[in-house]
Amino acid sequence: MAKTKTLYFCQNCGAESPKWVGKCPACGEWNTFVEEVVQKEKAPSGYISSKNISNKPIAIQSVEAIKEARIIVPDAELNRVLGGGIVPGSLILIGGEPGIGKSTLMLQIALNLSHKRVLYVSGEESTQQIKMRADRIEYSSENCFILTETSTTDIFREVKELAPDILIIDSIQTLTSPKMESAAGSVGQVKECTAELMRFAKENKIPVFLIGHITKDGAIAGPKVLEHMVDAVLQFEGDRHLSYRILRTTKNRFGSTNELGIYEMLNTGLRQVSNPSEILISQKDGEVSGTAIGATLEGNRPLLIEIQALVSTANYGTPQRSATGFDSKRMNMLLAVLEKRGGFRLGVQDVFLNIAGGIRVEDPAIDLAVCVAIISSLEEISVSSKICMAGEVGLGGEIRAVNRIDNRIAEAEKLGFEEIIVSKFSLKGIDISKYNIKIKACSQLAEVVSYLFA
Ligand code: TYD
Ligand code: MG
Repeated sequence: MAKTKTLYFCQNCGAESPKWVGKCPACGEWNTFVEEVVQKEKAPSGYISSKNISNKPIAIQSVEAIKEARIIVPDAELNRVLGGGIVPGSLILIGGEPGIGKSTLMLQIALNLSHKRVLYVSGEESTQQIKMRADRIEYSSENCFILTETSTTDIFREVKELAPDILIIDSIQTLTSPKMESAAGSVGQVKECTAELMRFAKENKIPVFLIGHITKDGAIAGPKVLEHMVDAVLQFEGDRHLSYRILRTTKNRFGSTNELGIYEMLNTGLRQVSNPSEILISQKDGEVSGTAIGATLEGNRPLLIEIQALVSTANYGTPQRSATGFDSKRMNMLLAVLEKRGGFRLGVQDVFLNIAGGIRVEDPAIDLAVCVAIISSLEEISVSSKICMAGEVGLGGEIRAVNRIDNRIAEAEKLGFEEIIVSKFSLKGIDISKYNIKIKACSQLAEVVSYLFA
């Protein structure tokens, strides 16, 4: 049997070396050498030898179109994010910062898929720790198996014996392939282990979930290097101090990347949130100034979210501007528009902006609600919480059309809002008589300001 041969390659210029070196002798870059397998052992790592599968060119029309029977998981949010269930043989990467709830999410899926045999491989926690976590989550499955192992060879051996329907790896950074000398979590190991798991998934038609950590500085080998290798990349995100979590797709070979799932972390595990708008609008008794509700779209999903602004006189020289959950450059632009077109004296004010619920919004349709929240705080006049709005604000103070306005209006109506302010230009070709909610169409920011604050 030919022994596996590995070499180190510079990720910058491609220079090779038999040993790891700190500085590339060819291009002079530091810390760019990564171990890679150049010659594989003959025996493949999966339990079906790849020799059984003949790979010959086939005319595309004679390729059997299998009506892929997706595995539907008892989690509507995950099904939606994956585009309607798990495709057999797919390799799915779930990325997210440590502590966000990736292990909890996967364990919960494993425990609730009672009609499928699931193997949960953990290189991070002991079986006792996993059991403790499982006890917090309600479950009934007798088909969930736990394995604490980090060597891919040992994992494949156990997998062969157990023959699970789904394999979960927690996490890819803890795995090691005996073919590589480098430490677990290094780019070389992460790539090689993923390649082995991918071969395994494809050959055996078993879906594999990989959990991967991302660090903010991206210094360690994160899932970034694997994104092109896997079929789907899901991102689990949220503020660790808040309970809401969003599961997004950044890549999906079997579905759209516009879907997202929302969960709430409770002490009994993750709860699926089917009506996210309710949690994104904070409950309060009276009406306070400085808040406005925007009708936004996250992927395909309409969400009504609360924008909170606090405007106060700057006491220490340069005014402070800070935005949470919203692009601060965009906030500065909107402040300039309000100053120049609306005549509001914001240059001497501290402005703080916050999107309630800890989510991040990139949809420009939120602009109008941001402007209204800022003016509301500046003028100390509250806006009725029965009014919401959707519109992009242009540099001339005009309110521009946003996409899929009908979805936004329908969501606002469903949630019991009495009125929605939209751009006049959004309503072209839309039959507004079918809605019961009052629709106020405006074309200029000044119109909205005099309507709400006069
Ligand atoms: P975990 O799944 O371990 O995160 P990750 O695998 O992404 O690192 O979850 C971490 C947090 O979740 C931890 O701080 C505890 C919290 N948690 C709950 O609040 N409720 C629960 O039922 C569970 C299992 C965890
Ligand atoms: Mg974990």
